Order: sequence, then structure tokens, then C-alpha cells
Amino acid sequence: MKLNITETVLRDANQSLMATRLAYKDFEHILEKIDNAGYYSVECWGGATFDSCLRFLDEDPWERLRNIKARIKKTKLQMLLRGQNLLGYKPYPDDVVRKFVDCSIKNGIDIIRIFDALNDLRNIEVAVDQTLKSGGHAQGTICYTTSPIHTIENFVKLGKQLEDMGVDSIAIKDMSGIMGPQEAYDLIKGLKETVKKPIFLHTHSTTGLAPITYFKAIEAGCDGIDCAISSFSGGTSQPATETLHYALKQSGIETGLKEDVLKEINDFFKPLKEKFIQAGLLNYYILGTETDGLVYQVPGGMLSNLLSQLKEQNALDRLDDVLQEIPRVRKELGYPPLVTPMSQMVGVQAAANVIMGERYKTISREVRAYIKGNYGTPPGEIDPELVDKVLKGKKTMTQRFADTMEPQFEKAKQEIGNLARSDEDVLSYIAFPQYAKEFFEKRAEAQK
Ligand code: CO
Repeated sequence: MKLNITETVLRDANQSLMATRLAYKDFEHILEKIDNAGYYSVECWGGATFDSCLRFLDEDPWERLRNIKARIKKTKLQMLLRGQNLLGYKPYPDDVVRKFVDCSIKNGIDIIRIFDALNDLRNIEVAVDQTLKSGGHAQGTICYTTSPIHTIENFVKLGKQLEDMGVDSIAIKDMSGIMGPQEAYDLIKGLKETVKKPIFLHTHSTTGLAPITYFKAIEAGCDGIDCAISSFSGGTSQPATETLHYALKQSGIETGLKEDVLKEINDFFKPLKEKFIQAGLLNYYILGTETDGLVYQVPGGMLSNLLSQLKEQNALDRLDDVLQEIPRVRKELGYPPLVTPMSQMVGVQAAANVIMGERYKTISREVRAYIKGNYGTPPGEIDPELVDKVLKGKKTMTQRFADTMEPQFEKAKQEIGNLARSDEDVLSYIAFPQYAKEFFEKRAEAQK
């Protein structure tokens, strides 16, 4: 039996442990080794990498991707895409989604894992369609969470709908690391009985469940798992690549990974980890096992964001209160899975509810838009009082929001003018106007 392993050190591990602050030059010299390790794929782009490149790292995210592609030639490159929200926090019109997907593939991405935070599949169908048209591998995603609405039966239905949409494979995304081994077994078994496409499981070590959950998932027929090289594994990141490989090999399951190369990769990342701990970018708090996650369902990225947010507001001592407020806010919002952008929206709202001393005294623009229906259909019912507070008698929207949006690409291209040197630049500008513009200006200045 063969199991596919995806290495996440360049994307999710980097994002979950240290807010995506690995610069290209930090890992440039290990890319050939990574290419030779025998991974099924390397997740290296998407999620927060794009944002972080422009905002903090002073890097062109497209150039970063092309540079990775130039050194990782054999192994498939994978990215995470937030469906209609692309790599941002709000929906974009279809022309932008199509252009972004097409450019991602042209610049080196092979596999696009596409999700919608609400599992509203209308928000991923355009990205899936374009991935297939541009010759990429479309991995449709089910965001895993627990609630009275999120039953195995409903998840399996989603899997079937994804297959009908034409995806090449299906990923189950457990961003909070809350999926237990029996749940994984039942879910994968149910999916395997219903769909023919390969199933990949993505989880986080946050609560300590991940390795046992992976093992039961594999028993049920799971085709691939996500792991991180050991020095960047554990805590809010993924379980260690080497550990899983070792345990699987003992059970007669081939991963195709080369142990000596994994050792070299890990030796390369070890001092980097130390450097980021020294710089205060890697917080020891998120390296441990945090079983409170089983109660709060807070994903890794959300926890590190929440910590820095509370630190800024001098309210770190309120962390426990905020963590208790999160499930309440989530229930009132109809049980959205806590994944970007819902995790940020719920997190910010919960923090405001605690710090202001009055619940929903302020409601963010994003939460208002969510209640209006701009993000799609919530899994459950939003608290009627809250709906009333925001909509004041008006109805929620049932139409797909992107259908109400005007095309944006050509307009943005005109707007940014000569500062953009390519369609990719225009996409950066659409995604993060202010940071992209600043980046372009600096770039132009440097070349004078
Ligand atoms: Co993740």
C-alpha cells in the first residue's frame, strides 16, 4: 500500500507557527533537497503567504512562486485557495477568480486545494472550473468542524457534490486539529463508500490528536496526509513527517520518502527555528499540546492571531474569557467552521464582546456582511435577534454574492497603471491594494 505525504513546512507550518514570516532567502538553499525527498506534493503558496510577502517580507509573491518552481522541478507544488475569497478575506468577482487561478497555474502551481469557509460550494465552483480549464489538479475541500449540523452524513453529501463538480481529489480540512480518530475513520469510510476520487486529510497537532487520527484515517482508506518536517512540526502545525513515515513503514505502508534526505531537510530547518524563537516570532505557547482546543475549536493560525491582537490591546489576561466567548459567538452565527475568514471574524467579534464589556456593542463590517448573506449560506441558523439587530427587518440574501459583482480586473489594471508590470502585479493589487502599491513603489524606486 502507498500513502501520499504532502510537506507543509513552506506554507501551513510556516503560517501556523510563525505567522508566515519565512522569507524566500531563508529556505532557498533547501529546495532541491525537498524536491528529492519523495513527497507527493509540497504545499508552498496560498493561504497567508501572499499577504505576508507583500506586507511583511517585501517580496513579490509571484516571483517567490516562480523561484520555488525553478528549484522544485519534479515534485508537485500545491497551494491553498479560499474559493471565491482567493487569498483574501472577502469575495471577488468571477473574472478576478479565473485570472488568479490561471496565473497561479502558469507561475508553477500544480494542485490547488480550494475551500469555502462555510462549505457553500457555490463559492468554489468557479475556482474549480478554472483550475481544470488551466490544466491544474483541483482538490475540492470539505472544512471539518463539529456542531449539531455537521454530521458524517452531511459531510459525505458534500463529498459527493464535490465529485459531481469534477474535482480530481477531495481534501478534508481540519484546521483546528479537533478531529478524533473514530470520527476520521467513520468520515473517510463514508466518503470511500460514496466517492471514487482520492481523499486527503489535513489536520493540525494542536490538540495532540493528529497522529492517531491520521492512522485511523489511513485504516479507513485515506490516500494522503499533510505533515511538516519535524523541527517545524507539532503544536499548531502538522505532525512530523519523519515520525509518520517511520510508523507507517512499520505497518507496511510505503510513503516513497527518503529518510536520509528528510534528515538533511530537518537539519537545515533546525537553526532557522532557533533564529525565529530568538526573534520572538515563534511563541512557545503554540508549540505545546493544547487540549482546550477540543472545547474551543480554535485553529492554530487563529490562536496566534488572537494572541498578538490581545497583546496589542494590552489584554492578554483576557485570553481565557475570549476563548470561552468564541463558541458562543459561533453558535449565534449559525456554526460557521472556524477557518479564514470566519475564524478572524468570530475571533475579533468575541474579543470585542469581552473587551467592550457588552456583547455585540460593536459589530464589525465583515460580520454584518456575513449576516446579510454576502459570504454565502451559513451552515445553521443565525440567532434571530442578531439578524434583526443588523438587518433591521430586511431579508438576507440567498443569491450567490459574486453574481451581484461587476468584473474588476480591467478596471484595476487601469487604476494601477504603469506601477504594475504584469497581470500578476494587477492581481496583487486587487488582492491587497495598499501593500501591493507600496511594494511596487519601492520596487520602482530601487531600480532608479
Ligand atoms: Co491547516
